[in-house]
Formats: sequence, C-alpha cells, structure tokens
Amino acid sequence: ESIKLDISKAAQFLNPGAVEAYAPHVAAAQEALEKATCPGNDFLGWLHLPSSITPKFLGQIQAVADTLREKCEVVVVAGIGGSYLGARAVIEALGNSFAWLVNDKKNPTILFAGNNIGEDYLAELTAYLKGKKFGVINISKSGTTTETALAFRLLKKQCEDQLGKEAAREVIVAITDEHKGAARAAATKEGYKTFIIPDNVGGRFSVLTPVGLLPIAVAGFDVKKLVEGAQQMEKETANDVPFASNIAARYAAVRQGLYSQAGKKIEIVANFQPKLHFFAEWWKQLYGESEGKDHKGIFPAACDFTTDLHSMGQWIQQGERSIFETVISMEQPNAKLLFPHDDENLDGLNFLEGKRVDEVNKMAELGTRLAHVDGGVPNIRISVPALNEYYLGQLIYFFEKACGISGLVQEVNPFNQPGVEAYKKNMFALLNKPGYEAESKAIQERLTK
Ligand code: PA5
Repeated sequence: ESIKLDISKAAQFLNPGAVEAYAPHVAAAQEALEKATCPGNDFLGWLHLPSSITPKFLGQIQAVADTLREKCEVVVVAGIGGSYLGARAVIEALGNSFAWLVNDKKNPTILFAGNNIGEDYLAELTAYLKGKKFGVINISKSGTTTETALAFRLLKKQCEDQLGKEAAREVIVAITDEHKGAARAAATKEGYKTFIIPDNVGGRFSVLTPVGLLPIAVAGFDVKKLVEGAQQMEKETANDVPFASNIAARYAAVRQGLYSQAGKKIEIVANFQPKLHFFAEWWKQLYGESEGKDHKGIFPAACDFTTDLHSMGQWIQQGERSIFETVISMEQPNAKLLFPHDDENLDGLNFLEGKRVDEVNKMAELGTRLAHVDGGVPNIRISVPALNEYYLGQLIYFFEKACGISGLVQEVNPFNQPGVEAYKKNMFALLNKPGYEAESKAIQERLTK
C-alpha cells in the first residue's frame, strides 16, 4: 500500500485539461533531473539516495545510535534548517506527544539546540542537562553555521565538564562535510565518531542521510522501514511511471497550474494530527528555500487543524482568495479511544457515544474540505494509510521529488539558497567578525545616518 494523491478538488479550479497540459513541462523537468542537465545539477544526490542506501550503512548508523542509547538519558541534536528539521519532523511525528514528561526508560529523550540564538533557551537547556547523562549529535554540513556552532561550544564544554574529556568523546558525534569546515576539524582533533553529509545533497534534501537517520535511530525509530518507504516512492515516482499515475508529477503540475493560472500564491499544508506539526515545518523549508527566488515562488505556509480552524480558519474561509490547501490526511490513528457515555449529558455530546475520537476528527476534516472548496480554496489531499516510519519515508521522498520537478517547471534553480546569506553578512558585520572589517564600517555608517 502507498500514500495517495487526490487533486480533483484543486483541478476543478482550473480549465479542463489544464493539469494534463503541464505533462510535457513536468516530463522535461524529470528528464533534466535524471540526466543532471538542470541548474543546480551538482546537488542531485538526493534523487536516487533511497535506492543507494545499503544494509551495511544502516548497520553503521544503528551501531552508533545504540551506543548513544545505551550511554545517554538525553541526546541533544544540534543543527538548524536542513540539518535539523527532517529529524525533528520524523521524531515528533512518531513519538509520544508527551515524550518529555513520560518516564520512558527504553529511549533517551531527544532535545534540539542550535536552531535559534535564544539565550533563555540555551540557559534553560544547559540547566536541565546539569547532572544528566547526555550526548550530543552536532550536525552542520558547512561546519560554520553560527547558531549550531554556538550551541555546540556550550554543550561540548558542559559534556566534558560533567563526564571528563575521555568519556565525552564517546557520546559526541559529528555529522558534517567529509573534509572541510570547523566541525570536521574539531571532530578529527577530538576523535569523535563522525558521519559524512555527501557533497551533492543539500541540507533540505538530507533527511535520508545520517543528518536525519542517526537522530531518528537514537530516538528508537526504525530507520530501515523509513528508507524502505522512500525506496518504494522512488520507484512509484520514477520517470517511466506515466503522468496519470505519477503522484509527484501530478502534484507538481497542479501546483504550477494553481500558481500561474489561478493566482494562488500561497499553499497551506494542513494536518489533522498535531504530531505532524514539524513535518509541515520540514515541508515549508523544502519548498520555501527551493522555489522562493528570482522574485517567484508559492509561499509555503502550514496550519494544524482543527486547532488553527479556530484562528486561521476565518482567513482561509473568507480572506483574499490567493490560497490553496494541501491536506495530509492520516487514514488510521495508532491508538483507539472511544467517546464515553454520560448519564447527565450536560454537554449534549451523547450523540457521539461509542464513536472513536478519530471519527469526529474525520468528519471535521471532511466538513472543512467541503467548506473550504465552497469558499474558493482549491484542495489537494494526500492520504496516508498510517503514521509510521514506512509511510513517512514515502511522504519524504514524494515531497522531495515533486519539489525538484516544481522548481524546474517554475524555471528556478531549486537547489541553491543564495538569499539566506544576506542576514548572515549583516550579523557578522554588526558583530565585528574578523574578515568583515569593511562591511562593519559600512553598516555602522548606515545605522548612524
Ligand atoms: O537547506 C539548507 O542548505 C540550509 O537550511 C542548511 O541546512 C542550514 O543553513 C544549515 O547549514 P549547515 O548544515 O551548513 O550548518
């Protein structure tokens, strides 16, 4: 079984045949990816990544994960952007919603750092880790990202202070470039266990490299199944799968139609499972960084339903008609909870007695879909048989493949992110980083004008 895509309630907002009319553009993009003739062709390592993952490699990941699992009650994953969101997306989707409160002796608690520069966040984290047996996975492809490096310096020192240098070495793992960057240099000098982020895999496409796989395995989830799901989707979205049944091709085509023909500039990924909140964050980065350039691109937004129906629902139903919605629908919850009877029925909810909570959720989902389509919001639906590693692997590869195609159909380079440098340059100039003397002077002049 596989995830399914329903674009019928989106295609109805376009002229008949409009989606199919994109088939040649999509096919050209698929071919350019395959033949590596597209812009950004030095970053196509993700394309056949799932099928290139060997059991031996997964064994190496699992072995290091097992060491951390054995030695640590807490593992802090330091990373940002593509070096952060994929792991968090999968771990939060599969984990207990109250993981940090549940005294789970089987699995270490996974915490994240290096994804912000909040002093309170870091102070509270280091206070929490005091006296705890903790390890660190330091993830940075460039090895020079400020947020991550800052957090890692603090965590490394604390780990060494608490355990001693020798023992700290056993619980610090670096995932970084094979040769360059400060994280590589530190790992070599300190003798940390390391994994490589392949040169030709960009951050936001790296969840199926050690960047995602190691933290996910440490959290106790089955990375083999995750990879199997991705492998299955690699087959199902291959170029020889016809447009009519190729879900990545169709998703890319309908998005492009909505954007360029129907003026739908914003895509809202919605879920009806709060556990998917960070999956949508991962998706936002994937699509935002890949498509938002050259003054083009669908703005990727996300909502958690039904929560946000009580906040953003008004805007979605009746605000400016520039949006479309992509709902990730989970067919089956993992748990079963029946709605109980109440003799007094003061809340008037006895009509739901004996029903599963998910039945109510599903009617909310269907009711929302009908209402939003009636309100002029095209609706794409991705249905997922169950929330587990296998289907998350499918979803990950599906979105990656469709993203590569989409960017090329929009005629941008989906694999670079030149725009993210602007804030860094200013920040370094403001902080008087060595090497930024001219920029520091220029920015100070600008601020005092
Ligand atoms: O997608 C990207 O390339 C970025 O989001 C990076 O992953 C992010 O900036 C972190 O970079 P690095 O892994 O070099 O620390």
